[in-house]
Parts: sequence; C-alpha cells; structure tokens
Amino acid sequence: MFSFNHSLLTTIFSVLTIFLHPSNAQLSSTFYSSTCPNVSSIVRSVIQQALQSDTRIAASLIRLHFHDCFVNGCDGSLLLDQGGNITLSEKNAVPNNNSARGFNVVDNIKTSLENSCPGVVSCADILALAAEASVSLGGGPSWTVLLGRRDGLIANQSGANSSIPAPTESLANITAKFSAVGLNITDLVALSGAHTFGRAQCRFFNQRLFNFSGTGSPDPTLDSSYLATLQQNCPQNGSGNTLNNLDPSSPDTFDNNYFQNLLNNRGLLQTDQELFSTNGSATMSIVSNFASNQSAFFEAFAQSMINMGNISPLTGSQGEIRSDCKKVNGS
Ligand code: HEM
Repeated sequence: MFSFNHSLLTTIFSVLTIFLHPSNAQLSSTFYSSTCPNVSSIVRSVIQQALQSDTRIAASLIRLHFHDCFVNGCDGSLLLDQGGNITLSEKNAVPNNNSARGFNVVDNIKTSLENSCPGVVSCADILALAAEASVSLGGGPSWTVLLGRRDGLIANQSGANSSIPAPTESLANITAKFSAVGLNITDLVALSGAHTFGRAQCRFFNQRLFNFSGTGSPDPTLDSSYLATLQQNCPQNGSGNTLNNLDPSSPDTFDNNYFQNLLNNRGLLQTDQELFSTNGSATMSIVSNFASNQSAFFEAFAQSMINMGNISPLTGSQGEIRSDCKKVNGS
C-alpha cells in the first residue's frame, strides 16, 4: 500500500515538475528518427550545395545559431522577418543588421525538409543542425546534435541588442554575457574558436587601428606587420564594410589556427585578442592549450556547442513548428 502511494506520489510530482518547468524538458538525438530520419543528411547536402558558390556560408550559418540562442534561447526567433505582429525583428538589431547572413540557405533547407517531412522539423533545430554540418564540412569536429526545439512566436530586438556580445567590449563584459546564458569561460574560449573561419567588416575592429581608446596610437596588442595589413585594408575614412578574414592563416578551414594567431597578437577583433592579452585572466591558459592541442579544442568546441544549443529551448507543446522560417504560422 505504501509503495503504491509512494509511486503514485512520485508520478504526480514528476508530472508537476514537467508542467511547471517545461523548458527543462530534454532535447534528444533521436527526436526525428521516425518522423524525419534523413534530416541531418538533407541539411548537410543543402549546405554542401551552397558552399559551391559561397565559401563563407558555413561560417555565416554557425553564427546564426549563436545569435539565435543568446536571445530568448534557441527558438528560431532570429529568423523572423519584421511585419505583422513582429514589429521589431532581431534581424534588424544592431549585431545582425547588414551583418548576419545565410537566411536564404536556411530557407532552402526548410523547403527541402518540408518536401521530405512536412511540418516536422523546427527552424530552431535547422540552425543547430546547420551549425554542426558547417563545422564538420569545414574540417572541424562532428558531434551528435540534440533535437526537439520548437519555434518561438515572438522576436526580441532589444534582447538582441543587449545580450549579443559586441566586439569592443571588455573580457569581463563578454564573460558576464556568456554567464547570463549559463556558459562558462571554457565555453567562451572554445566557442570564440568559431572565428577560425568567416569574415569581419572593418567597422567591427577599426577602432584598434589608428587611435585606440583615444591614445592616438593603435591597439598595442596588435602585431605590427598584421597591423600594417589591416590599416591598408581598412584605411581611415575608408568603407567600414570591407571584409577581412577572421583567421588570415586558413580563412575557410575549421582548425586551431585562431588560437595560434592569438598567441602571436594576430587576433582580429578586440574581443578575440582579449582572451589572451588580458593580464591575469583565466582564459589565457585555455587559449594556450587549444593553440597547442587541436584535439583538445575540437573536443571542447563540440561540448560547448551542445551547451549553447541547450539554452532555454521551447519543447513539448510550447511554440510551434514553423512552415516558413521567416514567419509565425498563420501570419
Ligand atoms: C565572444 C563574443 C563574440 C563577439 C564579440 C563576436 C563578434 C563578431 C563580429 C563583430 C563578427 C563580424 C561580423 C561582420 O563583419 O558582419 C563575427 C563574425 C563571426 N562570428 Fe562572432 N563573435 C563572438 C562569438 C562568436 C561565437 C560564440 C560564434 C559561434 C559559435 C561566432 C561565430 C562567428 C563566425 C563564424 C563569424 C563569421 C561570419 C561570416 O563570415 O558570415 N562568434 N563575430
């Protein structure tokens, strides 16, 4: 009798817990195994196709997952276009406007998935799958992507403006922004390693090149020959939109050269170099380790991508499965 009551109570308690904390529901690697068994290969093949004409697209796609997850969790909110009930999109927030790209490829993936498994795969999960495929196609690690996220019904432009780190912030600020979403300094250093591929516009780092912090001189943590190259590519009064490789030593390959660059004062963004040049910071030894040991970086990166992908997903009956990643259903 006691054991019956006890197990009944346990069941009621579990149900209540799930009910009261729905966002704690677990994602799962087998979420689509019966409803869309080829989901990973479909995502991968659309990206492979896109890479034929755009070597940068893999980098652009992983960045979308990052910018999605840091704002209201990994809920596809970044993908919503402004219009209807979406009065202020995340796409138009400062960190994304004229910067985030790859939305057309996300739409192509969605179309391809709707053809094979209509109404099944969320746009939030597409971003998580696209991030993994992009890294692995770039020569980086593979990992098992956890799935089952659902798509949000709102966008949060002010959240995007405040929660996504800016490239001119201090290491303390960046650390706080990661910590606010449950990520620690190992996650920060590992995930910053995504700057091993892709591009950055001059406007995001040119404050370092001529008159850093009002000193009248360049950022002292910039290697002098790298500085000269950057000054040439991003002259004062030149276009702020000119592109530069985030990792000049291997621009489109996912490897640990980014960390070797930091050891040589060749980090492009101020926030990149701060990981190694902030005196006394615990990030320094993590950078050194990843610079000397690519497997350690790859392993940490995969784990940190899983950690990032777990930020406050919508699950169960929350949100919806969008049929068009740009719009809330029925709008
Ligand atoms: C730590 C704080 C971070 C800051 C301040 C930062 C900032 C930036 C900036 C300013 C750009 C250039 C955008 C442009 O020129 O339009 C960029 C590009 C990029 N970021 Fe980050 N980022 C950070 C972390 C991350 C993380 C965690 C990831 C992914 C896991 C990531 C992946 C990328 C990639 C791949 C690109 C190149 C995108 C492309 O070529 O389209 N970043 N980031």
